[in-house]
Amino acid sequence: MPKTIRVAITGAAGQIGYSLLPRIASGEMFGRDTPVILQLLEIPVDKVQAALRGVAMELDDCAFPLLQDIVLTDKADVAFKDANWCLLVGSKPRSQGQERADLLKDNGKIFIGQGRSIDSVAADDCRVAVVGNPCNTNCMIAANQAKRLKADRFTAMVRLDQNRATTQVARKAGVPVSAVSDLIVYGNHSPTMYPDFNNAKIGGKKLTDVISDQAWLTETITTVGKRGAAILEARGLSSAFSAANALIDHVRALVTVGSTLHSVAVCSDGSYGFAAGVWAGVPVRTTAPGTFQVDKSFTHVDAAKTRIAATNAELASERDMVKELLAG
Ligand code: NAD
Ligand code: LMR
Repeated sequence: MPKTIRVAITGAAGQIGYSLLPRIASGEMFGRDTPVILQLLEIPVDKVQAALRGVAMELDDCAFPLLQDIVLTDKADVAFKDANWCLLVGSKPRSQGQERADLLKDNGKIFIGQGRSIDSVAADDCRVAVVGNPCNTNCMIAANQAKRLKADRFTAMVRLDQNRATTQVARKAGVPVSAVSDLIVYGNHSPTMYPDFNNAKIGGKKLTDVISDQAWLTETITTVGKRGAAILEARGLSSAFSAANALIDHVRALVTVGSTLHSVAVCSDGSYGFAAGVWAGVPVRTTAPGTFQVDKSFTHVDAAKTRIAATNAELASERDMVKELLAG
């Protein structure tokens, strides 16, 4: 029997939490034979803590064989204690008309305390995945507080953008989504993100040989970049189960050696022209469970370089906006 994984999840009583928890407890994230303990953090507000207890009751009522225990708390040090994975979802979603970066002022500070707490009480092998927006920069804030855990333990989620782009091109080509590979999203989880169709493949062939409609490809970069806003406008609420699903994919790919190339926002070492120290989406290969290497072999045409420079500039400007939060 594999070792039990302690998974801390913040914002566990929120929309994404509601879709995410049963899937982790049923084994979709860490494997169908891996027991889990869920350590759930929510804000210290009676109504929210009551909702969290309700979520835990539902988890009990699923009788998941892999779910060994559930911890409910409003204290970060309790939630993150000995955690092997910390999934940082808890934070405010944007409202219609806002960009994700507009959330920095409210959400950024959450990640200072949580970054410190993770660094002081989580397991030595702890990995962190940040979903709360703007997720790239929030991840940088959390990682910046850590002294024991290195920057490569902290990742932010651009997998939802990869999944969105995958469906768009599969539908256009009339193939199943499983035929699409190497479709990497570079940069920020924001409208400046760059889904790279030039290096992607469909059924092993160059994507651009299968879909030669350049105007459609250019328009689809925008469709993917603005998909979160389109969902927010349609539902009146930001995406939830697709985000939870992307987080399952993000972590599952990071714990599975031999998983396909996937998009993860990681601490930049300057590859692909990103500023060192910002968290940017890049192509990643999993080399050991929880450990990855950035694939630096892809080349980009000038138009792609321009888009990557734009998303990098936005990441750098977000970093400037939170300078005080990075001082530690
Ligand atoms: P939600 O409002 O339904 O739930 C958020 C929960 O977080 C709430 O229950 C709230 O009480 C809790 N929370 C707030 N501050 C907290 C703190 N300091 N500690 C612990 N919990 C805290 O929101 P949601 O729809 O679940 O979205 C959560 C976040 O995920 C938002 O920031 C949203 O923009 C982001 N998001 C990111 C992606 C992505 O692809 N990266 C996709 C979708 C949503
Ligand atoms: C998304 O991409 O759906 C999320 O980041 C939510 C949002 O604010 O768009």
